[in-house]
Amino acid sequence: MSSTPHSFEVESVLSQLSLEEKASLTSGSHFWYTQPIERLGVPRIMVSDGPHGLRAQPDTGDGGDHVGLGGSLPATCFPTAAAIASSWSPALLRRIGEALAEEARAINLSVILGPGINMKRSPLCGRNFEYFSEDPFLAGELAVGIVDGIQSRGVGVSVKHFAANNQETDRLRVSADVSMRALREIYLPAFERVVTASQPWTIMCSYNKINGVSSSENTWLLTDVLRDEWGFRGLVVSDWGAVYHRVPAAKAGLDLEMPPTAGSPAELVDAVRSGELDEQVVTDRARAVLTLVAKGSHVLELHETADLDAHHALAREAAATSVVLLKNDDNILPLATDRRLAVIGEFARTPRFQGAGSSQVNPTRIDTALDALTAAFPEVTFAAGFGVDDPAHDDVLADEAVTAASAADVVVAFLGLPGSYESEGFDRTHMRLPESQLGLLARLRAANPHLVVVLANGSTIELGQVTPHVKGLVEAWLGGQASGSAVVDVLIGAVNPSGHLAETFPLRLEDNPSHLNFPGDSGHVSYGEGLYIGYRGYDKAARGVAFPFGYGMSYTTFDYDDLQVSVTGSVADGTLAATVSVAVTNTGDAAGADVVQIYVRDPESTAGRPVRELKGFARVDLQPGASETATVRLDQRAFSYWSDLLDRWVVEAGEFVIEAAYDSRTIAASTSITIDAPPVAAPLSAESTLQEWLADPRGGEILRSGRHGTVAILADPEMVAVIGNFPMSALASFGMSLDKAQLAAALAEVSQQ
Ligand code: BGC
Repeated sequence: MSSTPHSFEVESVLSQLSLEEKASLTSGSHFWYTQPIERLGVPRIMVSDGPHGLRAQPDTGDGGDHVGLGGSLPATCFPTAAAIASSWSPALLRRIGEALAEEARAINLSVILGPGINMKRSPLCGRNFEYFSEDPFLAGELAVGIVDGIQSRGVGVSVKHFAANNQETDRLRVSADVSMRALREIYLPAFERVVTASQPWTIMCSYNKINGVSSSENTWLLTDVLRDEWGFRGLVVSDWGAVYHRVPAAKAGLDLEMPPTAGSPAELVDAVRSGELDEQVVTDRARAVLTLVAKGSHVLELHETADLDAHHALAREAAATSVVLLKNDDNILPLATDRRLAVIGEFARTPRFQGAGSSQVNPTRIDTALDALTAAFPEVTFAAGFGVDDPAHDDVLADEAVTAASAADVVVAFLGLPGSYESEGFDRTHMRLPESQLGLLARLRAANPHLVVVLANGSTIELGQVTPHVKGLVEAWLGGQASGSAVVDVLIGAVNPSGHLAETFPLRLEDNPSHLNFPGDSGHVSYGEGLYIGYRGYDKAARGVAFPFGYGMSYTTFDYDDLQVSVTGSVADGTLAATVSVAVTNTGDAAGADVVQIYVRDPESTAGRPVRELKGFARVDLQPGASETATVRLDQRAFSYWSDLLDRWVVEAGEFVIEAAYDSRTIAASTSITIDAPPVAAPLSAESTLQEWLADPRGGEILRSGRHGTVAILADPEMVAVIGNFPMSALASFGMSLDKAQLAAALAEVSQQ
């Protein structure tokens, strides 16, 4: 590595540091900066939000003001995570990541605080717009795309918020009480995927507790799982203010406290001096910080400018790719541009394109749908229809809108959630649009049935009073600064919609599986639904939904054929893999992109499992009439579940069904495979039940042989059914079938196998 003014050798610096200097490195110097060590040429580097655009505050000497939104430098506001997830395109995320890194390099910013990859447990989470999906596989793949994009340009990321940060209510204190199996199968896999595939420079630990232990003090999370199991080699930074006890946090694996708190380094020094803390811990934490600074300091020497025009164009392409077409009766879309158009809704003129809080970007420019429509159509009438921040019905605005709608050939109404409804810091209390918008919509429908609604929202909403009124329904999400022009690209057919939902639209909030346990109380939230969040829950409970996970229409149609699965490797040595291929044909007359979704089901499992789970997907771009074979590779994990009993991933032998689907409820083709695997039962013990002994070939043989007790009871199937779930130890204490000495002998024999 060539030497630059800021380069230094980590180990050499480390060996020259005093304990006090090492401790000082483990807290920032300001809100957004690491601590420099000037005497040894270690610079400070800057870290800053956030996931879909930079929120870097200029250095005014005070280091910025955290969530103070004023004064952040202009930056391209790309579509929020909720939007871009609908693209199902890691490749697009990668390009956005590269663009974010270019903007970071232009302002000498070394680490971008994102992406946020928490699971959408409840539609009410105020920060859902910052997260990708209710599905861990999809979130993990998208995270890899954006992280690889950013890091390929020499800028770091902070993947957040690790872990189980799924609500804003009481977020600094609440304990997410969640089973190990749900953690392993739902809340951790996206992090695991991005760590093992991309080695993010940093991971940000969350504010909340997991089963009573704060993430910043959670040795199991930060050391056992993240580093020892997954092989993470980067730095763990706290969420801003998530360090509650400095010494336990350092011991648990927290490298860098942000922002700094007064006296924190001294606490570490005192703990070392008093013998409470091994100095090696402080050395390791300081090494992690120095390693990060060494990686990120080249950015300080750059004099680059970002191509903001190109980034705006990318933001527009990305926003259009994120649009999900939900309904298109009578092919009302795409709109013929010779129609007389009524454009209704303040959002057409004043777009809502991002959420509030630490991710809020100061955009470089803003496209409005009204401008884009006015440019595309010869005759456009606009009426605001409602006041965005006023949920009450406004008769004057509504009357004006109805008049405009009556006089038009087609009406496009821009509805959505006001900014005050969803933000970092608090959760929603309901999923409805404001009454003013719903009332207006019913009147628009009566005035003109040729009605299209475009939605702007960062999380799902109840659509029962929307869908029936409209011929066209377009989910545009919070699509970033170019969302206005992008959605018009879709409305007029310049872009064929290809977005697919990364989260289910339930019929009602009450249908959501977490509903009875959200947001908890008394400092605890029980994740009582276990694995069954999102479509896993709706499917298991056989509940109707408004629009299923994976759903999305196009202006063309696609057909799947010739689903093939070939299996290689073996479960026993951990190499099981399957290659799934399916021929996709564009059967319509427009070019378009399709997302083939591959789900796996295990119909024979002894453990409860979701009906189906997404385990692969592929985007294909096809001209009309063209076909392509989409290929998806599944690894052993795709067939596994987490056994709490065995404390590891297991695959059960037997039949698995592989499905190629248009969405999680529209399966186009399926085929079965049979997988051979070692038995997954726990070793037999005195606490194993009679049934478990009988189900085990060796245990069954021992009992049936009568070598260690009477077998009379086994001749009575009804009796076996009644006492079959008694542990053997209980049967022995009752003297039923065998006594304690005989059980001991049976155990000795079974353990010899
Ligand atoms: C948020 C993080 C953010 C940090 C810095 C926290 O309140 O939870 O997502 O990166 O502030 O702004």
